[in-house]
Amino acid sequence: AAVVEHTFVVSQVKMTHLCNETLVTVVNGQFPGPAIEVTEGDSVAVHVVNKSPHNLTIHWHGVKQRMNCWADGVPMITQCPILPNQSFTYRFNVAGQEGTLWWHAHVSFLRATLHGALVIRPRRGASSYPFPKPYMEIPIIIGEWWQMDLFKADWGIKQHVIDAYYTASTINGKLGDIYNCSGAVEDGYKLDVEPGKTYLLRVINAALFAEYYLKIAGHKFTIVAADANYVTPYTTDVIAIAPGETVDALVVADAAPGRYYMVALPNQSPKPDPQSPVLITRGIVQYSNKQKPGNGVEHPSIDIPVSPEMPDQHDLMPSFYFHGNLTSLVHHPQRPRVPTRVDERLFITLGLGSICRQGHSSCERSESPDSLIVATMNNVSFQQPALEMPLLEMHYYNPDRVATMLQELPKEPPMVYNYTDPALIPLGPKEAKLEPSSEATVARRFRQGSVVEVVFQGTALLQSESNPMHLHGHDVFVLAQGEGTYDAGRDAARYNLVNPPIKNTVHVPRLGWVALRFVADNPGIWYMHCHFGFHLSMGMLALFIVEDGTTVGTSLPAPPADFPTCGHDHKLMPT
Ligand code: C2O
Repeated sequence: AAVVEHTFVVSQVKMTHLCNETLVTVVNGQFPGPAIEVTEGDSVAVHVVNKSPHNLTIHWHGVKQRMNCWADGVPMITQCPILPNQSFTYRFNVAGQEGTLWWHAHVSFLRATLHGALVIRPRRGASSYPFPKPYMEIPIIIGEWWQMDLFKADWGIKQHVIDAYYTASTINGKLGDIYNCSGAVEDGYKLDVEPGKTYLLRVINAALFAEYYLKIAGHKFTIVAADANYVTPYTTDVIAIAPGETVDALVVADAAPGRYYMVALPNQSPKPDPQSPVLITRGIVQYSNKQKPGNGVEHPSIDIPVSPEMPDQHDLMPSFYFHGNLTSLVHHPQRPRVPTRVDERLFITLGLGSICRQGHSSCERSESPDSLIVATMNNVSFQQPALEMPLLEMHYYNPDRVATMLQELPKEPPMVYNYTDPALIPLGPKEAKLEPSSEATVARRFRQGSVVEVVFQGTALLQSESNPMHLHGHDVFVLAQGEGTYDAGRDAARYNLVNPPIKNTVHVPRLGWVALRFVADNPGIWYMHCHFGFHLSMGMLALFIVEDGTTVGTSLPAPPADFPTCGHDHKLMPT
């Protein structure tokens, strides 16, 4: 196994789209940032040099970081941020994992522009894929272009004072030809294909705001992996991908040579406003004409590309089916087995609520100016702890103090009712729109090795979105999903304990539920949060702490020698 090294110089650069010059924070001047390509078992060293004015961390999304929570990249939880003009080297390995993951900044909304692919290939070479060896492998990163300052957007959403919104969707950083400014059309991503060849698309949703439907006119996808775990090949003409998820799909260039749009459509119209633009993006899959006799290479670039027929933006069933159709590849030797014993059960509702703004001890529990809308898990919104050192360092050096900083995330919501029918919410649909919530630094502690089952329940409390719930440091088995309110008596019988998909980001359907199981086997303090940027910034987050056998503290190795320190500047706290 090799050591793969990268240097990430983070800086602000000016990029122009839609006639507007915008200052964006990127790695090595690129949006998206550089791809890291490694082989299973390799060690990775990424030297992050912070030439930006921001405090930074980078998270390696989906990398398990076994006994290496120090490298997880969560500000003030696992590390002090890397200050401007400082640098830090993240070191981790990718043993036992293969497929498509990604990396992103984990500070404010910065991940909108600070992200890239992390591709792990099998040790035995591409011919050992459990599917036909592709002719080429292509990362397809779906993202957003923001003209608004990302910190301002984050703050504005948290404070509920700004209607922050992205300007355009992107594929591999390109807006696409539905966007133009004074007649000049934006470039779209172009994928050149050769007739008859098979391409492996490594699709990543790096967006903050939207789940996407992805289609290519005239072509089908064969899904072979999701979140860096192989799945039973599944053929579909549409991919549904929520923020944080990855999907590996084979595409055979078997259509008539020509040009075909590849369209990414944000679903579940984020703005209820029917006038709001549908911020799709499109690229073009174009067949090369090398085989044409006579005049050599001739691109059929004058052809008008064929458009795919997209699902309705408001129809979430294609996403429900897409996620429900995934099963893990049974005959893959590395596939772990679903544990049948369960040590801890959690039932966690995901919703919105309201708290009193700071300085207001009581407030109208509504959209009044003295209250604040927050996103919650079991009706508690996460409060960043005020710390002078990261929680994980405290856990390592002074574990007794950690306990005083945390409150236990309730095992179940404060009230049990029909969550998904607004008419049946106890106070009636109007009053219950915003549940009176609380704010706390919530955590759950698990003994190392315990098997945890979580049912996430989406709710109708002002929530009109699905929730992609991401757990750091672990993969989870997704046992079942359903519409409406979870019913243990009925729904536990539907669990797939044979070949459930294995994911790090679990799609909780809108007004529905999902059941998952995982083995809490990796000591450390791990984020469990919604990967929608606005839900995260509004507090849909908890800490999952895996405690190991030692009586006090943890058997984690010492933090890296060059670990960033926080200094005494209180602005260093993540916003
Ligand atoms: Cu991809 Cu906590 O994030």
